Amino acid sequence: MIEVEFLFALTNPGSEKALKLEVEMAALPWRAGYQRRGFITFKADGAFSLAALNAELACARRLCLSLGKFTSREAALGRVIAIQPNAIIHHARFHERKMQGVKPDSPLEIPNPGTIIGTVVELAPDEFWAGLHRQTARTSPDPAGDSGIEMPPHSPSRAWLKLEEATRFFGLKFTPRDLVVELGCAPGGVVLALLERGVPVIGVDPAKMAPVVLASAIQGRQDAPVGQPWFYHCRKPAALASKRDLGQGVTWFMSDMNQSPEVVLKECARFCRMAPSIRGVLITLKLTDIMQVADKAAWVAALSDMGFKNIRLQQLAVHHREFALLGL
Ligand SMILES: C[S@@+](CC[C@H](N)C(=O)[O-])C[C@H]1O[C@@H](n2cnc3c(N)ncnc32)[C@H](O)[C@@H]1O
Repeated sequence: MIEVEFLFALTNPGSEKALKLEVEMAALPWRAGYQRRGFITFKADGAFSLAALNAELACARRLCLSLGKFTSREAALGRVIAIQPNAIIHHARFHERKMQGVKPDSPLEIPNPGTIIGTVVELAPDEFWAGLHRQTARTSPDPAGDSGIEMPPHSPSRAWLKLEEATRFFGLKFTPRDLVVELGCAPGGVVLALLERGVPVIGVDPAKMAPVVLASAIQGRQDAPVGQPWFYHCRKPAALASKRDLGQGVTWFMSDMNQSPEVVLKECARFCRMAPSIRGVLITLKLTDIMQVADKAAWVAALSDMGFKNIRLQQLAVHHREFALLGL
């Protein structure tokens, strides 16, 4: 069994204080120690083992057992290999004011649950940290929880990236048999990402959609073609959308509205009542202050009250003052 004195968390820069608040709210007996942008170590009275990494902290994209601080990459890597000779190795670095995962040369296979992964984090040219974690169903497969997926030039908004990042982080599966309703869909980055996955979308937003998305638009729900993805623009505020706009068979609720979490969750509950076939929700919660993570229990309780069992709140590498809230 691996036991160490410290663990470390990788976060989005600017979320360090919010992460410490989450640790406190979860009543974890951890004390924050050494800290840099995007990086915090924690200590407890006893030793940490891999089980400690199961803590659900929205602001931590990765938790690792700390194997210590080193002055070179080779030394940090050597420490990982000395403890776990067969570990898969991830590289991360603080670069361009972001805590980034370093993309491997060959595409990364999703590790099987239980696989031990070593992470070497470069914080400065002479400061490297070595860590270990275990892949689980609730762990991003990517270095530092950052897929490194790049947005294609034809996407009308960064929301494309948020959908792709969430899909990768949470291991979501969408198929052409799904039907997504997205509140706050304009100009259409999320819609485009879904259409490219073959998934039809009902988008609710009074604002204009981009031409790249309108190419798949249908005029009415009854015009939905069979065998190809389509987009129906319900051009009104979410509160005015009705059961008739949704029709039958909606499987996912998504929201990217720039509204408070309370407004979004209220609409989510209403849409789940209008469409009982909804089996998943993926919401981008937009905050005025990242310390609003203090309300996390209320957001989770709202989804739980709607009947969702597997609920996760996570800040993604592509988020600023935002969280992804997932319910399955
Ligand atoms: C960040 S943008 C959404 C980006 C979009 N998801 C994409 O993929 O490109 C936020 C959108 O929320 C919409 N919005 C704000 N309040 C809304 C409401 N009450 N009902 C529907 N849409 C709303 C705005 O019109 C705006 O287009």
